Amino acid sequence: MAKIKTAYFCQSCGFESAKWLGKCPSCQQWNTFVEEVIDKGPKNAPDWKTSTPTTSRVNKPAKVQEIAYTEDHRLVTPDKELNRVLGGGIVGGSLVLIGGEPGIGKSTLMLQVALTIPKLKILYVSGEESEQQIKLRAERILPNPVSDCYILTETSTQNIFKQIEILEPSLVIIDSIQTLHSAHIESTPGSVSQVKECTAELLRFAKETNTPVFLIGHITKDGMIAGPKILEHMVDTVLQFEGDRHHVYRILRAIKNRFGAASELGIYEMQGSGLREVSNPSEILLSQREEPLSGVTISATMEGMRPMLIETQALVSTSPYGTPQRSATGFDTKRMNMLLAVLEKRCGFRLGAKDVFLNIAGGMRVEDPSIDLGLAAAIISSHEDMPVPYKVCFAAEIGLSGEIRAVTRIEQRIAEAEKLGFEQIFISRYNKKGLDLSKYKIEIKTVAKIEEVFSLLFG
Ligand code: TYD
Ligand code: MG
Repeated sequence: MAKIKTAYFCQSCGFESAKWLGKCPSCQQWNTFVEEVIDKGPKNAPDWKTSTPTTSRVNKPAKVQEIAYTEDHRLVTPDKELNRVLGGGIVGGSLVLIGGEPGIGKSTLMLQVALTIPKLKILYVSGEESEQQIKLRAERILPNPVSDCYILTETSTQNIFKQIEILEPSLVIIDSIQTLHSAHIESTPGSVSQVKECTAELLRFAKETNTPVFLIGHITKDGMIAGPKILEHMVDTVLQFEGDRHHVYRILRAIKNRFGAASELGIYEMQGSGLREVSNPSEILLSQREEPLSGVTISATMEGMRPMLIETQALVSTSPYGTPQRSATGFDTKRMNMLLAVLEKRCGFRLGAKDVFLNIAGGMRVEDPSIDLGLAAAIISSHEDMPVPYKVCFAAEIGLSGEIRAVTRIEQRIAEAEKLGFEQIFISRYNKKGLDLSKYKIEIKTVAKIEEVFSLLFG
């Protein structure tokens, strides 16, 4: 009898150790190690279909020029936002992981996909909800589905593969990888080794049959996809579904994509009848106001390939306590502190004893550095209590010495601002090269130093 081998795994990051450890050397968490059985004997090698040996095929090296290239066939869904995030549609045989907080709408999004692709045989496997619950939800989304959608409530991968062999679906959706368990592994569903094993089996299934598989994954308290980090390496695409549960807008973001750009983003609105695509995001991200307010500015940012105008709100007030508070929603706090330091040191604003709060409207999270100038202007506008003129927007990065830096895709940003009726845009002087200023109706202000911006804005 083969000896059963065990090892200890960190439940937080998947780090493997031969002995129990109190603190994980990889993610520094305490008390996360759990003993698990590892089955590495070749006899027990689990496979999604044990009858077909996968090891008999031997691959030979091929010259890169001689490899036949076929444009990968993509399944284009009726959901344009999803297509965009996936890089143009669902690639055959791809394994896609969708992560998100509970209640954000992962099941709704996937069920909607399963119901709306015309004439496609789709298997929706749920380990979380009953058939009746799913039916109820399907009724709300689309009472007469156009696809051939089957619901299976099952958690054993072996049983799922049995049903897949009978049904032969063209697309498989697994509602939560954390609820599945494989008979090859002893540990409980949701544990690191189970999640790893079930994903490996589904990966083999996807690649061997060229069937795309979507996995829904839970995320942990700190926003990571639960289960081992290795999960993200195994799958082809990782999507994150995010947003504030109290807001109606949801953002689907590609974090990793082997078949497209990883910075793409889709926006949805949660309605009573499921998720609606938002095709013109700038309009919803700008609040409808008539008069200018202090501390509010608009930045022309890019999310992936798409220009987006985003409203930033800042509130600067005298701190009632000794230590001022700094908090940012939707923006990196470290970067905000850097901007505050630049404003203090280079422009002489006394912000050291002030509370500073920043908020990006619409529950968005922005990483594009082009929002820097807009943020700095919002902070100063609130500090001085002088509104930034209406119909002015910004697109530039700020360097440590207060210089205004160029940003990418400036033409697209300017065009979007012009399209939405802005009359003035502040950009870096270094962005001017190759830019035909006469082409635009919008007035383009090019600046090199942060002080210039403030003297132009506030006099
Ligand atoms: P759900 O899709 O179950 O989220 P997850 O799978 O990520 O946990 O949840 C969605 C929430 O959306 C739930 O609180 C109810 C709400 N909802 C709507 O507002 N409209 C709808 O049409 C549906 C189906 C759900
Ligand atoms: Mg769910």
